[in-house]
Amino acid sequence: MALKITVIGTGYLGATHAAAMAELGYEVLGLDIVPEKIEMLQRGEVPMYEPGLEELLRKHVAGIEGSTGRLRFTMDWAEVAEFGDVHFMCTNTPQKHGEYACDMSYVDRAFELLAPHLTRPALVVGKSTVPVGSADRLAAYLAAHAPVGEDAELAWNPEFLREGFAVQDTLHPDRIVVGVRSERAEKLLREVYATPVAAGSPFVVTDFPTAELVKTAANSFLATKISFINAMAEVCEAADGDVVKLAEAIGHDERIGKKFLRAGIGFGGGCLPKDIRAFMARAGELGADQALTFLREIDSINMRRRGQMVEMTREALGGGSFLGKRVAVLGATFKPDSDDVRDSPALNVAGQIHLQGGQVTVYDPKGMPNALRLFPTLGYADTAVEAVRGADVVLHLTEWREFRELDPATLGEAVRARVVLDGRNALDPALWRKAGWTFRAMGRPTA
Ligand SMILES: NC(=O)c1ccc[n+]([C@@H]2O[C@H](COP(=O)([O-])OP(=O)(O)OC[C@H]3O[C@@H](n4cnc5c(N)ncnc54)[C@H](O)[C@@H]3O)[C@@H](O)[C@H]2O)c1
Repeated sequence: MALKITVIGTGYLGATHAAAMAELGYEVLGLDIVPEKIEMLQRGEVPMYEPGLEELLRKHVAGIEGSTGRLRFTMDWAEVAEFGDVHFMCTNTPQKHGEYACDMSYVDRAFELLAPHLTRPALVVGKSTVPVGSADRLAAYLAAHAPVGEDAELAWNPEFLREGFAVQDTLHPDRIVVGVRSERAEKLLREVYATPVAAGSPFVVTDFPTAELVKTAANSFLATKISFINAMAEVCEAADGDVVKLAEAIGHDERIGKKFLRAGIGFGGGCLPKDIRAFMARAGELGADQALTFLREIDSINMRRRGQMVEMTREALGGGSFLGKRVAVLGATFKPDSDDVRDSPALNVAGQIHLQGGQVTVYDPKGMPNALRLFPTLGYADTAVEAVRGADVVLHLTEWREFRELDPATLGEAVRARVVLDGRNALDPALWRKAGWTFRAMGRPTA
């Protein structure tokens, strides 16, 4: 009999994972504690924007015409426990308020709600990004609170999907990492992932702490790479160098590589910033804080870029106050091809300028509803051209393709002053300058 799979917590990670598991051929039951999310998913609607996800969902959600019917959603824990051979735990692990540490309350709550219903053998698989040591603690919790006792086993299987490529990354992962304590758990997970493994995805088997650490180590490395090139951008700015050329040149070295070397306003989102902070906090608890003090610097380089963008904008407006100045902001999400505005550098910059008296108008292809909820006092426009109307300066803060395809000449007719600042080093300076714009980008020479 084919395995039956449940997915608990159907946000960015869980909704994608549930649809992908159905695509791999399994019967899947998703659960969330937010009724509106479940109702949307039951109608085949995705509660967020992720390319290709809605199509995949509609292909499998029961009740949709022509669907396989393999994917269903519920809010009933007893039903989930009864249904599943494998339960994927995908709840959020945000940063604690006022602390660097990870807030484990959502994960813990999900285990508390599931455990008492586990009356038949099951593998509970953690996917959330958690502080090292959590799996060990949660395994003991399960053994103590599940009626089936040790037959409710835990495994840890961190997730590496990238928002914007989540469907592709889940169906064709570049690696699958599983932390297990028994052959049975490994065997079950090999079965779950048989299709991607047969297609070539490496399957790495390890213990709990290493599986947990792989995720935070990977994110720390990526954050370091971004902050490294942003530090180089700061030096380029001081020395009149060009960080884009510098990145291209060092990227030819295979040991360095070209990816993740685009200087700009830095990283954000629901993962990297909180994950590196939680990693530092956890290392401190373990007495290994010295090993990660460099991450503090990585974080401050990153946060400094947002302030630097604000200052670049001030300078472009002639210095001094933002009062009475109109600032158009292109981009609200933390990256393109997502509607995710969690800790978005673009919105942070927009917010800072607004708080200093600037009249900010934001446009984003997919992030407007989330941005409006988070920053209701910013101005919003329905199109890029509307956003830049009457602007004294235009800021390009999220590298959507739509912005690269804008016609600088058309936009030039709408603005008060043809000044554009590229916070992502993604626009073509020559194109904008040809259309009469003053073009500035982070870490690049002025002219
Ligand atoms: N978003 C990503 O790209 C990504 C990638 C890799 C790893 N992760 C990790 O995956 C986890 C989830 O991230 P996300 O971005 O999907 O978060 P999210 O906030 O989008 O989704 C979490 C979901 O869990 C639900 N939830 C909360 N408490 C619950 C409970 N007790 N029972 C059932 N459901 C509950 C929430 O309602 C929400 O729908 C985090 O640990 C994150 O660090 C995320």
